[in-house]
Amino acid sequence: PDPRDKLFCHIAEHTRRQQNKISIIGIGHVGQAVLASLLFQKITDNIAIYDRDEDKIKGELLDFQYAAMYSSNTHIEGSTKINVIVNSKIVIITAGARRQKGDTRITLVQKNVEVFQDIIPKIVQYAPHAVLILVSNPVDIMTYITDKISCLPPGQVVGSGTNLDTSRLHFYMSHKYNVAAESCKGWVIGEHGETAVIAYSTLTVGGTYIEDINFKMGESCDIEKWSDIHNEVLTTSANIISLKGYTNWAIGLSVADLAHTIITNNKSVHPVTVSAKGFYCITEDVYLSLPAVLGENGVIEVVRLELSSKECELLRKSADYLYNMQKEIKI
Ligand code: NAD
Ligand code: LAC
Repeated sequence: PDPRDKLFCHIAEHTRRQQNKISIIGIGHVGQAVLASLLFQKITDNIAIYDRDEDKIKGELLDFQYAAMYSSNTHIEGSTKINVIVNSKIVIITAGARRQKGDTRITLVQKNVEVFQDIIPKIVQYAPHAVLILVSNPVDIMTYITDKISCLPPGQVVGSGTNLDTSRLHFYMSHKYNVAAESCKGWVIGEHGETAVIAYSTLTVGGTYIEDINFKMGESCDIEKWSDIHNEVLTTSANIISLKGYTNWAIGLSVADLAHTIITNNKSVHPVTVSAKGFYCITEDVYLSLPAVLGENGVIEVVRLELSSKECELLRKSADYLYNMQKEIKI
């Protein structure tokens, strides 16, 4: 006899909702932060985790199960078998090779390409309708590679791109003007990396364009020294990595925010890695961040920004930098 029969009068079958399942590939520092952010912000009640490291999967599942009291009965399953992701609505990819001694940027990318050639077709096989959110670095290149390997419809592969750099920028703006970060707007675009561009022409606080009150933003005679903020935004990850070995909390929250937009189909605009060919006179097939409207199928529209000629030039330099790296890669 089922002891539950004494407790309950059975009326109907238990079911689990499938339409909001989110899977995380790679449950290292970043995967764990994404999981915690999804769980504690109650973005979904159905999560799957996949990693090749069985102990890590077992350990994370055990640890997180004791958070059940605080996470709305969220179902979490994990496996070293990729079919655990079956029928996901979103698959967040954080797996990848770590830089080893002697690795150049290109040899690291090439190792990741081999990992992706193995896992992307399997992800598409088990979750053909899922939006893929790339986080593994170099994220713009990995988004390009995933788009090519997966052959998914346009927009279904998205890179987390400069969503993180933009939240870093909003932090510095909030600190500078002593207002909430949510009241600071504007975008970091281009590569998620050293050639990223802070689009000064898009920055507003409380609705006022900063450029309207400071015509010299970013120039050497700028008394507000925006070039310092620019450097902070672009070098902070190296600083964090030298202190704690990796970055994870802010990227975890920023990816969970992308997942929330997609799962709720709320059509918020985020700066994410998209195919950039044809925008701002970019002629090569490169992927970099531009603000985009996101919905349940991924990228719906890319916003046409009215960039200054200097911003366009910097964006094209960022595209050139990415293209020069990309053309060395063998897919
Ligand atoms: P990590 O080493 O802690 O975790 C990586 C995980 O991936 C490990 O658990 C490993 O077992 C797993 N893995 C590796 N290859 C796999 C495979 N073939 N199949 C299944 N699992 C596999 O690394 P991390 O600190 O979590 O960083 C993950 C990635 O995210 C890195 O590429 C890092 O550079 C990147 N990252 C990106 C951003 C961003 O803004 N885009 C921010 C932070 C980190
Ligand atoms: C970041 C990672 C390392 O924190 O890409 O920006």
